[in-house]
Amino acid sequence: MHKPTGTPITPKRRAGQPAEGTLPSRTPVSSPVYETAHRQGGDLRSYSAGQISLDLSVCHNRYGPPRHILKSVHELLVKHPEDLAPPPYGCEVPYLEAFAAHLGGVDPDHLLPGRGVTEFLTVLARVLSSPLHGGSVGSELPCPRGRGVGVIAPDYTETMSLFHYADFHSPTNPQDSAEQRLHRLRQAMTRHTGGAVILSNPCNPTGIFLTREDLLQVADEHPSTLLVVDEEYLGLRGGPELSLAGTDLDNVVVLQSAGKSYGMVGVRAGVLWTRNDQLRQRVASQLIRWPLSLLDAHVATAALYDKAWLAVTRAAIHDDAARLETLLASVFGSRVVDAQLHYRFVHLPDPLPVAEHLSNCGIAVRAFIPGGARVSGIRVTAPNGPQELALLTDALTTLPSIWASTA
Ligand SMILES: Cc1ncc(COP(=O)(O)O)c(C=O)c1O
Repeated sequence: MHKPTGTPITPKRRAGQPAEGTLPSRTPVSSPVYETAHRQGGDLRSYSAGQISLDLSVCHNRYGPPRHILKSVHELLVKHPEDLAPPPYGCEVPYLEAFAAHLGGVDPDHLLPGRGVTEFLTVLARVLSSPLHGGSVGSELPCPRGRGVGVIAPDYTETMSLFHYADFHSPTNPQDSAEQRLHRLRQAMTRHTGGAVILSNPCNPTGIFLTREDLLQVADEHPSTLLVVDEEYLGLRGGPELSLAGTDLDNVVVLQSAGKSYGMVGVRAGVLWTRNDQLRQRVASQLIRWPLSLLDAHVATAALYDKAWLAVTRAAIHDDAARLETLLASVFGSRVVDAQLHYRFVHLPDPLPVAEHLSNCGIAVRAFIPGGARVSGIRVTAPNGPQELALLTDALTTLPSIWASTA
């Protein structure tokens, strides 16, 4: 288990400020790639204009957004502009019904609407940090700050930052696996009895996935620990049968949004699912008066009803990603993490020279530099189709061999 030292893990540093932990030696801290490593995927502000022609640092469905929903937005704006006049009372109702159907027919009353998974992570980080509201499942057991919450690392940069006070359960081997992640989860659930454990599943950035059966078994074995599962990427792996939403366990919380699956992260609409009334009420009390804007609710609702679009693009993405994996494995060998997702992670002790080489070829990938509870490597989102794949193939062909499988 790793407890981050000193100040909380903060993804956004000022230019030139060194990261904590081991610093990669060969890439100057003034380089755009170094600066970008402290930002989130898709944030290309450090690169010069026009430098990047293929952005594989993003981690949403790059086939999105579904074009027909744009028509529905156009209709709202052009035919019913008066709908924008009043506060958006009740616009979350059809949205929650659509999300309940999207999750395989869960009870909409077990859902809360919010501005993406990020809003729920933010609220939960606050709610679960309080000694009086330590996340204990059935009671109001006091839960000392920082002792009651565990994060199964690595996780989304923002999660690790928001839960900076938590215990980080990091891999002990340089390369993580589903087995080790499950083992760490079991340990964390025991350690944080009366508190909560957070994990992303599939994991950002590695793509490692734990099955519904395994997660439910762990939750069932630890009824006094809250299990918060961030399923942001689940829709890009498979259908609602993979989700924990709908379980009859009281200690499970599920977070999802339509942003990544439908390629519309700019639409800020997510849900929290739990049948734990006490927790749902606590989170609801922290949400703002109108939890979604009319436009966000409208666009997300239209997208969620188009299951066929998601299934078709998911199949295309899995084909793209299988080709990506073959390409990456030919260069980096067993450093590539096996996953069934739209991105692949490559473990690299010093990822920046690889990211820099690719950016010089016009391709952005997400670099994770070592330090704190992070893993070290690059996350590459699948190129869409043969043309984009050819660009990446060319760029990797000219990668100096020192940074390839022997790096
Ligand atoms: C694991 C994970 N959860 C949540 C988010 C943010 O989700 P949203 O856009 O729904 O707020 C991200 C974004 O990268 C993520 O990687």
